[in-house]
Amino acid sequence: MQQRRLLVLGAGSSIGRGLLYYAQKQGAAIAGVSRFAAPDDFTPDLWLTLELQQGDAGATLAASLPGLCQQFQPTDIFICHGLLQQDNVKAEKTIRQLDEQAALTSWWVNYLLPALHLQALFAYMQSHACRVLVLSAKVGSISDNELGGWYSYRSAKAALNMLVKTTAIELTRNKSPAVLSALHPGTTTSLLSAPFVRNLPPGQLQTPEQTAQRLWQVASDLQPEQHGKLLHWDGSVLPF
Ligand SMILES: NC(=O)c1ccc[n+]([C@@H]2O[C@H](COP(=O)([O-])OP(=O)(O)OC[C@H]3O[C@@H](n4cnc5c(N)ncnc54)[C@H](OP(=O)(O)O)[C@@H]3O)[C@@H](O)[C@H]2O)c1
Repeated sequence: MQQRRLLVLGAGSSIGRGLLYYAQKQGAAIAGVSRFAAPDDFTPDLWLTLELQQGDAGATLAASLPGLCQQFQPTDIFICHGLLQQDNVKAEKTIRQLDEQAALTSWWVNYLLPALHLQALFAYMQSHACRVLVLSAKVGSISDNELGGWYSYRSAKAALNMLVKTTAIELTRNKSPAVLSALHPGTTTSLLSAPFVRNLPPGQLQTPEQTAQRLWQVASDLQPEQHGKLLHWDGSVLPF
């Protein structure tokens, strides 16, 4: 059987690191791209440190990702960028808390950064039978929204789901053999989830290792019917 080759973009994320550790233990070759150096206790096959700034991130990614993919030939790609609450960005409880600059930052990390990664990966996805999973969130499902709140994060993730569906359609039109889906990882211990998990019932919070095992299984089982869909961590299709 062909060796799996995992590329994680946003590899400094808790879930991304969990995926890299888990996949390496399963015998996969692993590569990461992050703003930061690889963790000390870690021996990836390839690691790229990239400064991604608003305004020139697209050009930086276009200049680096196609070459990296040609060199590493990933079979599985996870895009893991996300931001819920950090510094001046708050998870808004009411629209009265919506702040212009904070919303732009949230949209940049949660929507535009993954979009620019997909743009830079497009030629590779067009010609390689790879699995590409973009980490999204169930709270980005419009039909599932019963609670409200988290205006910027929810709306950016809803836009991300639309981005994935639209890119999947273009890949199909171009006769691409790749499968591209958005994926809800489930609530997982991380910088992103830390402020919101104190009152969760036992069993609802996963470690990055547990989530990595679940998401690796979703990638292993990915089918053409799941192309362009929003998937739950168990592989089932969630409504948009
Ligand atoms: N944890 C959860 O409970 C949960 C639930 C639902 C969905 N998700 C989704 O799962 C994904 C991973 O989440 P996580 O919990 O592992 O998050 P995390 O540990 O907070 O990591 C998020 C990553 O996003 C990238 N990022 C954040 N701000 C950035 C900025 N200003 N510029 C460039 N990159 C930036 C960073 O990648 P680098 O450090 O590599 O540059 C960062 O490590 C996200 O898409 C998140 O929305 C998580």
